[in-house]
Amino acid sequence: MNKDQLKKSTFKDALAQIQDGMVIGIGSGSTIELLIPELATKLQQESIEITGVCTSNKTAFIAKEHGIKIFDVNDVQHIDIAIDGADEIDRELNLIKGGGGALFREKVIDSMAEKFIVLADDSKCVDYLGETFKLPVEVDKFNWLLIAKNIESIKQVKAIRRMVDDVPFITDNGNYILDLEINNHIDAYEMHEYLIHLIGVLETGYFLDVTDQVIIGSTSGVKVINK
Ligand code: A5P
Repeated sequence: MNKDQLKKSTFKDALAQIQDGMVIGIGSGSTIELLIPELATKLQQESIEITGVCTSNKTAFIAKEHGIKIFDVNDVQHIDIAIDGADEIDRELNLIKGGGGALFREKVIDSMAEKFIVLADDSKCVDYLGETFKLPVEVDKFNWLLIAKNIESIKQVKAIRRMVDDVPFITDNGNYILDLEINNHIDAYEMHEYLIHLIGVLETGYFLDVTDQVIIGSTSGVKVINK
């Protein structure tokens, strides 16, 4: 099975939880982009209606193209289920997210949901956060370099501004992303606390104590892990 097939193997268990009338948080990334057409098919086949709230402009565009009704997050009272991908998942179901740069809106929507479900293939499972993936941090353009220097001198981790095709990556909120090379087992809660209080930091890619369920696709089958 290739990676896309492993991702797709998680969809059945997630889609089965979606019921008529629900407000669904729709995440970002390649896994969710594969899920959206299958969600649209389910809605059609079962004649059910949902309202979607999206974690990125790209996801909203794709979902609308598939005929899914999308609301602004400010126009919903609550979210029943949010479904999203992840870049790393540890044993406590804590995550690193933001590989696609959508971490702020993902955190808003995933934290707001009554149930937050993560879909991933088993390459995302790690012993500790930061083991295989850099930690994305969304920062204001105005003082991004000062923030990066502060992090590097205080925490002794490299903070690199994300670039795409030689130009700085810009988030849906008009900000930059700093990718932090953590590389060793540090206290994620402590690191998040330090980062979030720096002036100009909007949000970090640590998703701590947010996940309710992880559905992992692997060559030996699908595993559903509940918090
Ligand atoms: C987007 O900013 C990310 O948090 C994604 O949810 C995460 O990178 C997972 O993406 P894939 O589904 O592409 O692995």
